[in-house]
Amino acid sequence: MTILAIETSHDDSSIAILENNKILKNIIFSQIDIHAKYGGTIPEIASREHVNNIALILQEIKKVIKLDKIDYIAYTKEPGLIGALQVGYLFASAISLAINKPLIAINHLDGHFFSGAIDNEILYPALGLLVSGGHTQILYAENENNIKIIGETLDDAVGEAYDKVARKLNLGFPGGPLIDKEYWNYSGKRTSIKLTKPKTEEIYDFSLSGIKTQVINIINNFENRKLNVPVSEIAYEFQKTVVEYLIEKFSLAIKHYQVNSIVLAGGVSANKLLRQEFLKLHKNVITPDLKYCTDNAAMIAKAAQIYLKNN
Ligand code: KG4
Ligand code: ZN
Repeated sequence: MTILAIETSHDDSSIAILENNKILKNIIFSQIDIHAKYGGTIPEIASREHVNNIALILQEIKKVIKLDKIDYIAYTKEPGLIGALQVGYLFASAISLAINKPLIAINHLDGHFFSGAIDNEILYPALGLLVSGGHTQILYAENENNIKIIGETLDDAVGEAYDKVARKLNLGFPGGPLIDKEYWNYSGKRTSIKLTKPKTEEIYDFSLSGIKTQVINIINNFENRKLNVPVSEIAYEFQKTVVEYLIEKFSLAIKHYQVNSIVLAGGVSANKLLRQEFLKLHKNVITPDLKYCTDNAAMIAKAAQIYLKNN
């Protein structure tokens, strides 16, 4: 069975081929350089770039496989930027009509969760920590068909907080990898900056905007006093606090739900400190390969294959 998958929910245009349960090809055209100029993703530009990129990626894909060998076309239905999703849907529909093969609509967040299943076996029941630019959730997966959100952010997503703090520190976009780098540069040194972790009514929910605001106030304070902003030290303290916070909340869920594996997913799962700390939490830990952490079509193909197996 061969699945062609298309992912255009945000600012990465990606097409992948899954053949006999293996990812044969996963091509990603990142738009980061274009959006970096504006300090964040501009939805209208993202849609236009997807239109340009997607046809180019298909040319690359056609070098690997003939379109008539494809059995299903999977695409990201939601959530994401409306215009960007539309490009993927229209493109998937056109291929589906041209080769007369069925379309499969995939939820982007299921894609992130199942990215862990590309190279590993998720043992159920499982708990997932999904951390991306748009979402921060704790998932309880009874089995492949039954995944419940048991906690989520009440305000900013983790990746969003990373990107906003990085912008305020003039580090660039996307902020996650840049703050991660500053963290390791500063690691081991003394710090005088302290951040507090927010409390939420529901134990598995998160609130990230408070940590972000504390950081912004600290930076403003340095600037108002015409002092140099200690960029690395602030980045260090921010990452330390955020990762501790995510790990503390997720540990509470592990204690309550007796699961057979835990899965880390989403763009922020590329974070070196988070991966390191997550690995200590359980005997069966699944962290996706770095190329499957941020948005990619391989995870959409994998989610489609799992859907077909169960339906
Ligand atoms: O999953 P993703 O590619 O897109 C969404 O579905 O949102 O996640 C993108 C997010 C961005 O906010 C980016 O800053 C963050 O993932 N990110 C990281 C790292 N690499 C990417 N955050 C922290 N540490 C990283 N190494
Ligand atoms: Zn994503």
